[in-house]
Amino acid sequence: MTTLPPGPTEPPVLQTLRWLLRPISFLESCRRRFGDAFSVRFFGFQTPMVMVSHPDAIRALYGVREHSLPPGRAVALLPIVGPRSLLLLEGREHLARRRLMLPPFHGERMRAYESIVRDAVTRDVDGWPEGRPFALHPHMQATTLDVILRAVFGVTDVARRARLAERLGGLLAASASAGLQFGVLLSRRFGGPDPLARLRTVTQEIDALLAEEIAERRADPREDILSMLIGARFEDGEPMDDREVRDQLMTLLIAGHETTATALAWTFDLLLRHPHALERLVGEVDAGEETYLRAVVAESLRLRPVVPLAGRRLTSELHVDGLRLPPGTDITPAIWLAHTRADRYPEPFAFRPERFLEHAPTTYAWIPFGGGVRRCLGAAFAEMEMRVAIAEILRRRALRPASPAAERVARRNVTFSPSSGTRVVAAARS
Ligand code: HEM
Repeated sequence: MTTLPPGPTEPPVLQTLRWLLRPISFLESCRRRFGDAFSVRFFGFQTPMVMVSHPDAIRALYGVREHSLPPGRAVALLPIVGPRSLLLLEGREHLARRRLMLPPFHGERMRAYESIVRDAVTRDVDGWPEGRPFALHPHMQATTLDVILRAVFGVTDVARRARLAERLGGLLAASASAGLQFGVLLSRRFGGPDPLARLRTVTQEIDALLAEEIAERRADPREDILSMLIGARFEDGEPMDDREVRDQLMTLLIAGHETTATALAWTFDLLLRHPHALERLVGEVDAGEETYLRAVVAESLRLRPVVPLAGRRLTSELHVDGLRLPPGTDITPAIWLAHTRADRYPEPFAFRPERFLEHAPTTYAWIPFGGGVRRCLGAAFAEMEMRVAIAEILRRRALRPASPAAERVARRNVTFSPSSGTRVVAAARS
């Protein structure tokens, strides 16, 4: 049978609001009612989105590199990252760029970035208030933005980097709300002014700053990621032109910091509410080891996946969960559901880093970075950054939660984010 699996029957507008405002309860109710695979109708889209969570289904989906992208990714990202972004290109064009952009993100290159992370964290922690509550998430955002700017641009004009940081932070804040996302879907459905148009002024300012950086590196290449992008050549010997370099820079700057900051904020929310795990981790960090730290990062990305969906549009028939889905179907793993399957993770809602001491995460039941030929380019970078930042923070500050209640999941851009920004109280360590 080539029919789509059943799903909620509420009007698309209601399904979309539930997804934007209460994503976890929406997903859980779909799991209860329909099981492993179901179809969701998002407002403003012609076709349903099939959501799957069984590892076999995810393997089957990500195993075929020819599938393309569903339209939702471009709706959310194109106005910011631009049409040549690695995140949005497909097929041969995508693979050719991916090959060019992989080298600086290879696992073995990570040591080189550790000191950048350590410096950025130290500078930020030195400015934290002592003994009174503050939100950790904005600090993690400033830190990870500083890190990616330094990795991408290396040594550069300090005032220009500060202006870029300020404009990029403003752009993300302006595009964050669920209300804006709903407005985008409304204008898609009914026409009318594009709510993202007002972001154009700030993207133009950012473009001007990026153009200055690109021109400088063309004249004087260095060791940084931007110089590498400019020096890279496609198989036919051609380089990327300036417009494309701009889109790939924007992609790295945007994809490379908000996600990692949010993952760090979640990790601290989880750790501070699990004193045994925190104590064990602090002991290990003080001893200069990182086995438990790696498990904490894996468990945090499992229980609080930052990016909820990483979908594809089928270019060939796919057999999953007893269904035959035709070409053209939009389908995505529901990452939260894949990560909280009781058959893969005993006590799936418990924060237990120990589970990853016994078994490393398995490829298709642990997919915070998506999978296959589009798996996150910065996964090794993000995990390195999380490890170094967590260890550095725990070495310098004793933290406790500012309130007894754990953070709720709220949408921010395309991510699941802690609704109050992970409020903590910090004290210097004796
Ligand atoms: C915890 C942090 C991060 C998370 C959770 C995350 C998650 C993701 C996900 C789910 C995708 C889509 C994968 C797919 O469609 O299968 C993705 C793609 C991507 N990410 Fe990340 N990411 C993180 C950090 C980073 C960092 C630090 C960078 C760069 C320095 C980065 C750069 C990219 C790029 C360039 C892509 C597009 C890859 C492609 O289409 O080939 N990400 N990421």
